[in-house]
Amino acid sequence: MSGKFSRRQFAKLAGFSALGLAATSANAAPKQKTAADPHAPARFPKDFRWGTATSAYQIEGAVNEDGRGRSIWDTFAHTPGKIEDKTTGDRANEHYHRYKEDVGLMRDLGVKHYRFSIAWPRVFPEGTGKPNPKGLDFYNRLLDELLAKGIEPYATLYHWDLPQALQDRVGGWQSTDTSKAFADYAGYIAERLTDRVKNIFTLNEAGRFLNFGYGWGIDAPGLKLPNAELNQARHNVVLGHGLAVQAIRARGRAGTKVGPAENIATCVPAFDTPENVRAAEIATRELNSGLLSVMLEGKYTDGFLEYAGKDAPKFTAEELKIIGSPNDFVGLNIYAPQFYIAASDKKPGWSVLPFPASFPHMSADWLRIGPETIYWAPRLAAKVWNLKTIYITENGTSSEDKVHADGKIYDLDRIMYLRNYLRQLQRAVAEGVPVRGYFLWTLMDNFEWIYGYEKRFGLVHVDFETQRRTPKLSASFYRDVVTRNAIGA
Ligand code: BG6
Repeated sequence: MSGKFSRRQFAKLAGFSALGLAATSANAAPKQKTAADPHAPARFPKDFRWGTATSAYQIEGAVNEDGRGRSIWDTFAHTPGKIEDKTTGDRANEHYHRYKEDVGLMRDLGVKHYRFSIAWPRVFPEGTGKPNPKGLDFYNRLLDELLAKGIEPYATLYHWDLPQALQDRVGGWQSTDTSKAFADYAGYIAERLTDRVKNIFTLNEAGRFLNFGYGWGIDAPGLKLPNAELNQARHNVVLGHGLAVQAIRARGRAGTKVGPAENIATCVPAFDTPENVRAAEIATRELNSGLLSVMLEGKYTDGFLEYAGKDAPKFTAEELKIIGSPNDFVGLNIYAPQFYIAASDKKPGWSVLPFPASFPHMSADWLRIGPETIYWAPRLAAKVWNLKTIYITENGTSSEDKVHADGKIYDLDRIMYLRNYLRQLQRAVAEGVPVRGYFLWTLMDNFEWIYGYEKRFGLVHVDFETQRRTPKLSASFYRDVVTRNAIGA
């Protein structure tokens, strides 16, 4: 990331408490050991769901078409100095018009599942009030196209593009009015789309958009709130999640499944001893205490409240009940190890070890290479919160992709990253960790937020001048994994 900010800092700051408390459950041995030969093909269960993920503002473009309202990301991207290459998502991948071609790319990959996001300001241009039927129609067309091609849609309701009108009127997530407006929007979508969308993710990465957008001013809306106000905004966000879960259950078709998609603060035992594993469980609960823990437990941990002190959010018992509304699944976005954890004799019983400067990373410096993260994060989360269904809702990497003279893109570093992470994912699944599916980030290069078009995360290369899509070598790699439902030959 640019000199402005690095996710290394984020890794340090993501945990709200240096204190650890007793986790909810004891350490358990994994069900089954992995195959002795690390090179043998490692199979996934036959109903494992393979997919790709995208988000609306990053690909749709068409920001002024068919009555779409402005979002905080339109405003932010158009503010000088905010986006590294001075671009915006105005045009992006023109997916709004090219969605059929893009669904075709998925079909060619062989994936049968697709996680996309709905742009709230397309559906409610003012955030609340009068819906815009033309906005919703785009998603109707997209869903019909996906289903016609045999691809199951998973909708995310909020991938950071808050209607600007809500930011202007009530201060966005600083107000519970936004939590309530989010629930109304969620209910409206549930009423109209759950005939075809059976799985809904409420919020994408609350941990990112709050810290970056409301805490450090790096993402939209670019605020730097003091701690007490930031904690209150966090509370309003998790309240919005809980209210949305309830609205979807009340207004969606019976059987609609719902849960969050969170960039869990990823903990990894420094090395595998029972003591370190236990310490990593406790750390997982504490370092996710302001968001995932409260969503899954319906209470803030004592450690969180103690650490926040006078800056703790104000809340009622009724709100905690809403926030803790049961989810059907939890989505985890997993890119890199954030905390290596060791057991400690001192309170709170665990410590975070410092990263050596030589720790390897991908082309983005925040994207450290730690394949074991995709094994440990779901294993620890399942243990701590007794989860029964987990989806890896994002995993992938940017690469310095270059189109060679033969027109091909040999993104071998992406393949290296993916094959190692997928091996570890298979290990988790084989040991009984309840991961039911994997959505690779991302289908095609897109508008990468503050990086603009400089960072490329796609399996498919996009020439943003011509909008030509070219599958990279990693697309062949992923197609092979999906087709054989296995990693390794
Ligand atoms: C996740 C987001 O944080 O990571 C995606 O959910 C994003 O929307 C991806 O594109 C990569 O992040 P970044 O900061 O490198 O653009």
